[in-house]
Amino acid sequence: MKPHKLSILLFLFILGAIVNSCSQRKAHFYIGVSQCSDDEWRHQMNNEMLREALFYDGVEVEIRTSKDDNIKQKNDIRYFIDNKVDLLIVAPNEAAPITPVVEEAYNKGIPVIVVDRRILSDKYTAYVGADNYEIGKSVGKYVANMLNGKGTVIEISGLAGSSPAIDRHQGFINAISSYKDIHLLAKEDGAWLQSQAEEKMNKLLDDYPQIDVVYAQNDRMAAGAYAAALNKHRENNIRFIGIDALPGEGYGLEHVLSGKLNATFIYPTGGDVVMQTAMDILNKRDFLRENILKTSVVDSDNALIMKMQTVHIRALDDKIETLKGKINQYLLRYATQQSILIGSLLALSLMIALLITVYLSLRAKNKLNRELSLQKKKLEEQKIQLIQQTELLEQQKMQMEQLARELETATHAKLVFFTNISHDFRTPLTLIADPIEQLLADKSVTERSRQLLELMKKNTHILLRLVNQVLDFRKVENGRMELHSEPFDLLSGFQEWNDSFRVALLKKHISFTFDYSSDVDYRTIADIEKMERIYFNLFSNAIKYTPENGKIVISLESDSQNYCLKIFNSGSYIAPVDVEAVFERFYQVDAHQAGTGIGLALVRAFVEMHRGNIVAHSDSKGTMFVVTLPKQDISESSLVENSKCVDVEDISTTLIESEIINEEEMIEEDSPTVLIIDDNSDIRTYVKSLLSVEYRVLEAADGIKGIKLAMKHIPDIIISDVMMPGLDGVECCRRLKSELQTSHIPVILLTACSLDEQRIQGYDGGADSYISKPFNSQLLLSRLRNLIANRRQLKQFFEDNQAIEKESISDLDKDFISRFKMLVEERMKDPNLNVENMGREMGMSRVQLYRKLKSLTNYSPNELLRQMRLKKSSFLLAASEMTVSEIAYEVGFTSPSYFTKCYKELFGESPTDFLKRKGG
Ligand code: FRU
Repeated sequence: MKPHKLSILLFLFILGAIVNSCSQRKAHFYIGVSQCSDDEWRHQMNNEMLREALFYDGVEVEIRTSKDDNIKQKNDIRYFIDNKVDLLIVAPNEAAPITPVVEEAYNKGIPVIVVDRRILSDKYTAYVGADNYEIGKSVGKYVANMLNGKGTVIEISGLAGSSPAIDRHQGFINAISSYKDIHLLAKEDGAWLQSQAEEKMNKLLDDYPQIDVVYAQNDRMAAGAYAAALNKHRENNIRFIGIDALPGEGYGLEHVLSGKLNATFIYPTGGDVVMQTAMDILNKRDFLRENILKTSVVDSDNALIMKMQTVHIRALDDKIETLKGKINQYLLRYATQQSILIGSLLALSLMIALLITVYLSLRAKNKLNRELSLQKKKLEEQKIQLIQQTELLEQQKMQMEQLARELETATHAKLVFFTNISHDFRTPLTLIADPIEQLLADKSVTERSRQLLELMKKNTHILLRLVNQVLDFRKVENGRMELHSEPFDLLSGFQEWNDSFRVALLKKHISFTFDYSSDVDYRTIADIEKMERIYFNLFSNAIKYTPENGKIVISLESDSQNYCLKIFNSGSYIAPVDVEAVFERFYQVDAHQAGTGIGLALVRAFVEMHRGNIVAHSDSKGTMFVVTLPKQDISESSLVENSKCVDVEDISTTLIESEIINEEEMIEEDSPTVLIIDDNSDIRTYVKSLLSVEYRVLEAADGIKGIKLAMKHIPDIIISDVMMPGLDGVECCRRLKSELQTSHIPVILLTACSLDEQRIQGYDGGADSYISKPFNSQLLLSRLRNLIANRRQLKQFFEDNQAIEKESISDLDKDFISRFKMLVEERMKDPNLNVENMGREMGMSRVQLYRKLKSLTNYSPNELLRQMRLKKSSFLLAASEMTVSEIAYEVGFTSPSYFTKCYKELFGESPTDFLKRKGG
């Protein structure tokens, strides 16, 4: 994980912890209070509720007062419903009008506490208040007691529709009903108000001259009644009793102490109980549904104590208020400190996160710096290496350039040398050619001499052509080759030259097609002689490399800019690397192929002198040379007749290989057989003319044919050229030496290459001798005789295995001889053993076995078989007790007399004579 990510995570963790600690508060409650009236009793109750709420966290109390107005109170309650109070406290003004809206709140799931006054339904959660019936009853009993069971009473009640007014009346009536001398003179509705009570009392005073007691349902109304009586000076004759007993100036307790009221009854406000019940409900704790508050009478006996107590309570309340203020201060301070703490913690965590980030970044930076310096060091090293390599490459480049210069100088020197030597050759060659012509003209020359002279003439011409090519090339290189341009019709020129190749094509059974477009004008300006050299060279090459029964297609095409000559021949393939280099001087595609490698270089030079180009393409189908020549405008109308510059006869004859003389005709029984393998028919003819007096001669034009002939005829010796297309002489020799049938045949390799390396290759291939061209005919003849004679000496060692081991013949031949001997020894007893089945056992034909054994041992297989049978018999005669007849059959003779005859021929004595000698 990256450093900054780590610090962000840490910071978030600390922040979360702080926020979590701050948010751990109690739930928030919203309580609505709907008061019916706005008076001191209500104020006291409200204060008690608010003071009690201070003991609970998260409580919000909202109080609305309807000022004795039912409609306003209904609106207040609806307001609380709409504002989704958590709990509703209601002191209903009058029961009937307020009940529906309280039910509505209750039905909506809002807990409702009804206080002081009741509603006309039980759809509320709890009730807190005094038992007004009981209060009324206590008042009745107190009055009866005070009057000693006799007197008159006036009742001033609260608001008619409010439940305390009804209950207090009922309780009162119930108490005084048992006193028949107590008379309730009148009951008037004072609506809980002082003014209305005073007003009603005025009238009552007038109506009733004797009133003993005025029972007002609250202290306010009692004070009103007293004021009316005072006004009429009847206050001392009437006793006044009220309810509420509130402390404080102008309220019930003080009126008792001042003597205005004779007694009052405590009507407890119970605001603390109301709030406690509310919190129990909201916090889902157990609570009492009906909370009935206690009452008590206050008169002259206990009023003072009551006052003192209430003062004390008021003081305690004040202290609580003060405490509350202090607590609020502390809370405020605490909240401030908490905010500062949170802020500090946040800052601290930010600092820590920042520090960690900085530390980790520094560490990462240091690490990166270390890596960078390492990389830098490596790069420095690589740079040094590169500089060294560049220097080395520079040196190598310089060396290469030096080498190239040296090579160029050497090539130049070589070319100069070739030019000089070609010059030197040309005169003697001309001097040879001319006398040959003269000799040929001489009618007295014999046919054999004429053949030799023809051969000499042809080869002298070839040599002259080669020499001329070298001189031409030198001219091109020196820029001294001139272009003799003149108008020339390519089509008629090429068509005419095609005739020169007819014979050569026929001899190799090559199909030839010449394509051109009859509506194209092929007249241009060109050097006809060079054109001819180009055409003849490419056509000759095509014939040379086309196999028998192949095809050559020449097409002459044209576009707006150029003429295009395409010469295609089937069957030959030049690898891509060679196709590029084929036009380079001295380049030879096949190192085993004869040639100077100068012909195509010269062709390209001539084409380029015509501002054209030449390319070669080759694939599995064959090879195509494409010559492109730019069209030249002919201003002169006369076209020059093509004259033959190349010796056509020469081309045809050098290309055509002499037919192989039917080898069957040549086989004569006695003389040894020589197989000549050479692709040059002239060489074959010449060698044959040398050998035909002493030998039967077989000829083959290439290695494959040579091997076939060798297998068929098992010649006594083979003379093979090394450089031949296809299978070369070395490979041909290697194959002959690896075949059982031909392994014994001596092979002389004949080649123009005299390099030691090639000789070594030749000997590695199993060649028995190596003669360089030009060869001396006498040397060749004597080498032939020696090799044949040496091979035939082997017969002297045939009887002796150790001698065979020492003999310089191949392992294959040693193995062949021992296998043959073993075969004869094993099957000697079989009189039917003959050349046929011996050959089969040895894996060759009758002729092959005959020729091989004859060649190796100078004996035919039958002669060898007989000799071995006789030798075995002589061993048996000497070493066993067998009779002559038994021995004759044992060694495979069918007749003992014939055995005796043969034995005597070989050993000079009969077997019986031998036994006699042995016995004697
Ligand atoms: C206060 C008051 C009291 C009386 C009570 C009855 O508003 O009028 O004086 O006892 O209500 O509900």
